[in-house]
Amino acid sequence: MIKDAILIAGGVLILMPLFYVMSNAPFNLYTLTAYMALLIPTLAALVNGAPFVPTPMGAVEKMLKVSKIKKGDKVYDIGCGDGRVVYLAANKHEANATGFELSPFVFIFAKIRQLLWRSKAKIQFANFKHKNLSDADIIFCYLLPETLLKLEPKLSKELKPGARIISYAFPIASWEEVKKHPRDAKQNIAPIWEYVKQ
Ligand SMILES: C[S@@+](CC[C@H](N)C(=O)[O-])C[C@H]1O[C@@H](n2cnc3c(N)ncnc32)[C@H](O)[C@@H]1O
Repeated sequence: MIKDAILIAGGVLILMPLFYVMSNAPFNLYTLTAYMALLIPTLAALVNGAPFVPTPMGAVEKMLKVSKIKKGDKVYDIGCGDGRVVYLAANKHEANATGFELSPFVFIFAKIRQLLWRSKAKIQFANFKHKNLSDADIIFCYLLPETLLKLEPKLSKELKPGARIISYAFPIASWEEVKKHPRDAKQNIAPIWEYVKQ
């Protein structure tokens, strides 16, 4: 917690002057508040979960396929980035899909992309750590290994038996997977880890 706060504070100290230089904005309470409001959650997303790295579309298709998603399933992408997983889940599979995104820039980007996708999926500007996931049929994630490890008690506590977790690239180290779909270098698809809550 203290380590996270130090990292975020360090990031703000380094990036804030850059913001001012690049935007040529006057230094006052309004610009300072606005930049803080943008910078702190962005850095918090990085420190708390994972940086924004979108899953290649081929891998998104594969994640949805291995999840055995079906119409009406309650689906979450915890750290949804530009929303591609939930948009495809809603548009192609008619799932009831929601994505949580903590970084404001990425959240705005996802909302813009939603117009292009014309998707009914919901995107919430939220920290997934504070969201109740108990009604999930499927959880999708692409998060750092340490984040997945910290998330495991929440998943164990909240998820209903039979809920599926599809993790891109990294495993939940303390859980035994149902299946590991190996890396497909030709298609640029990292391993996909499939879990079922017991
Ligand atoms: C590696 S990207 C994956 C994006 C998307 N799921 C995909 O597969 O294309 C991880 C995303 O999670 C977001 N994130 C990290 N920690 C988060 C948190 N605690 N709550 C919500 N979003 C978070 C980051 O801002 C980033 O956009």
